Amino acid sequence: MQFLSFFILDAGIFKLLYLHLTLLYCGMENYKLTEPRYEAMKYRRCGRSGLLLPEISLGFWHNFGTDADAGNCRKTVEFAFDNGITYFDLANNYGPPYGAAETRFGEIFASSLKPHRDEIIVATKAGHDMWPGPYGEWGSRKNLVASLDQSLRRMGLDYVDIFYSHRPDPRTPLEETMQALVDIVRQGKALYVGISKYPPEMAAAAYGYLWEQHVPCLVYQGRYNMIDRDIENEIIPQASAAGAGFVAFSPLAQGLLTGKYLHGIPEGSRMTRSRFLKPEILTPELSARISAWNDEAAAEGLTLAQYALRWVLRNDKVTSVIVGASSVEQLKSNLAVVGTAD
Ligand SMILES: NC(=O)c1ccc[n+]([C@@H]2O[C@H](COP(=O)([O-])OP(=O)(O)OC[C@H]3O[C@@H](n4cnc5c(N)ncnc54)[C@H](OP(=O)(O)O)[C@@H]3O)[C@@H](O)[C@H]2O)c1
Repeated sequence: MQFLSFFILDAGIFKLLYLHLTLLYCGMENYKLTEPRYEAMKYRRCGRSGLLLPEISLGFWHNFGTDADAGNCRKTVEFAFDNGITYFDLANNYGPPYGAAETRFGEIFASSLKPHRDEIIVATKAGHDMWPGPYGEWGSRKNLVASLDQSLRRMGLDYVDIFYSHRPDPRTPLEETMQALVDIVRQGKALYVGISKYPPEMAAAAYGYLWEQHVPCLVYQGRYNMIDRDIENEIIPQASAAGAGFVAFSPLAQGLLTGKYLHGIPEGSRMTRSRFLKPEILTPELSARISAWNDEAAAEGLTLAQYALRWVLRNDKVTSVIVGASSVEQLKSNLAVVGTAD
């Protein structure tokens, strides 16, 4: 018996030592919060809700898959939180492979952010292709409920702050998708809901349905930047009139609106890695426009990225811009825009 208890004790100590060494190896023990971390950030009210979101939020679409450097991912998230970025934007299928960004976020959350759960907004989405078969995508109740359960497991969370319908589904009755969102909130698995990329008629119906069910749509998420302005005159004012906030994704047009592609396509850039940013998009005409914007930015002492982010934030109906970043340096430079758009 005594031998057994020694053995158990020894095993416990060994486990602790192993955990300690692992944490040390991964650099997790080095994480110390920077104080004060909220002073430099500006927060905007999200529509007619009680929720404030930072002017700049961090997105996990790229740079958080298994192909990304774990240490860099961790540093980027910790730097973001240390600088007042409270909103982390994920989706079920961000990777690669699908789900990997949520798993990574879950690891960073467990080791660094868990004590600060009430200081952060975690959003995820379902609707794009995620798992094989007829239930792995689109807007059925089956897909949304199962997907959110999977996301919560990957991230190690009890609930998300915002759950989005990631894209409109023309074949599922809108009422089914919206009622699934309502039920998810009532079950406590999400605090708020949002929609993304919905065309105006479907967005109007969604706002109406959710309002009637007393789960108002918190936010519309759409692509908006100096190149892509399609939604400026309809979707954004419509969201505002419905009491929803608006968060802009790809505010830098995936990196086109930075100095990165001014002189060709640099090795390691998104254009060399992602099927969503093909070199064909960089026509001589677009290159000339980007170059002209770069000159305007330089004349004001700004980088093109800062100039482009400020342009989006100057629209007072925009609650937050969700930027992607492949390094802490990018995020740091982009954060200089906070508070300059008024
Ligand atoms: N709802 C939706 O359907 C949807 C769709 C797309 C995105 N989103 C969300 O929006 C987030 C942001 O989208 P996005 O990644 O396309 O945003 P983005 O901010 O337009 O582009 C980010 C990329 O721009 C480059 N970059 C950023 N700052 C830079 C700087 N200061 N200097 C040089 N290059 C810089 C980096 O490219 P490199 O990697 O080449 O360095 C970075 O990965 C996503 O992560 C996701 O959360 C949502």
